[in-house]
Amino acid sequence: MRDRYGREIDYLRISVTDKCNLRCKYCMPGDIESIPMGKILSFEEIAYIAGRAAELGISRLRITGGEPLVRKDCCTLIKMLKSLPGIEQVMLTTNGVVLEKHIDELLNAGVDGINISIDTLDRDRFRSVTGADGLSDVLNGLSAALSKGIKVRINAVSVDWDRYHKDMCSDPYEDAWSLIDLAREKPVDVRFIEMMPIGYGKGFPAIPHDILIPAIKERFGDMIPEESRRGNGPAKYYRIPGYKGSIGFISAVHGKFCDSCNRIRLTSKGYLKSCLSYDTGVDLMDIIRSDMTDDEKRDAVLAGIEKAILCKPAAHSFTKEENISEKHAMSAIGG
Ligand code: 5AD
Ligand code: SF4
Repeated sequence: MRDRYGREIDYLRISVTDKCNLRCKYCMPGDIESIPMGKILSFEEIAYIAGRAAELGISRLRITGGEPLVRKDCCTLIKMLKSLPGIEQVMLTTNGVVLEKHIDELLNAGVDGINISIDTLDRDRFRSVTGADGLSDVLNGLSAALSKGIKVRINAVSVDWDRYHKDMCSDPYEDAWSLIDLAREKPVDVRFIEMMPIGYGKGFPAIPHDILIPAIKERFGDMIPEESRRGNGPAKYYRIPGYKGSIGFISAVHGKFCDSCNRIRLTSKGYLKSCLSYDTGVDLMDIIRSDMTDDEKRDAVLAGIEKAILCKPAAHSFTKEENISEKHAMSAIGG
């Protein structure tokens, strides 16, 4: 369905857990207390909500976390969602650490694409950002996905090593260069995501896109904008002649794409968020676990989803941080 600003909302991100097996410094740096299992939507509850969302025009789903693959039997949920009428695609966003061992299950469940978060291809810098020595596991996961013919994209936020750990990187763009190299060798889109001032991302030393993009364009002068991919999600894509994958930029702060926003987000606690930047939304867990009759529940969930879509704000407020009402860590929202 369309929101108040005429945007077609057809994409729902579903966070299945706030737990993660990494501790990225800009996301969940320490031991955040995780939500007790009883307060997390069951797979049946998630599928019920997704089914109602599909009736209102949601056709694409993305499973997120925390790290979704740490939730037991995550692939069972993917299979359940794939079988819902009206759902055309179910995708996954993962940090890739345990991807390799789940790849067959994911394939069998019918996953339509996997986004892997990799900020750096340097083992020491990976450990410094994520708190774990897991880069080779992630790269094995990437290779396994590609070998099965699954569509893979890489998401990278650019750490500003000059401000973070100067002695760990001599060229501030080294991570960008090596990630772009991956797109030369493998059929993966590499997408740079601008750090958003949400949760621990606020104030984290990251390279803003008004600096990163010109630096990349200067080095790869022959980047060709892929106009045909505009408006299909927030990334702006470029092709580099001879490269197998494209380079994308999701410039949430410096390249506002709210005009074409197509998404809502369901947290693992059953809260349907209208926009990443605000806490506005509808508590669907409340409805689902109430003692309403089945018919009443169905109507209330449909009305709740409609309400969350209709109260979507025109735009985020990332450049006016005092207006950001979202106080949760990104791990509780799913990016
Ligand atoms: N801003 C932008 N991206 C973020 N991620 C986590 N926190 C932030 C933030 N504050 C990214 C992760 C991962 C994706 C799910 O979200 O790096 O790629
Ligand atoms: Fe885990 Fe992703 Fe957050 Fe890193 S960014 S701690 S991998 S949820």
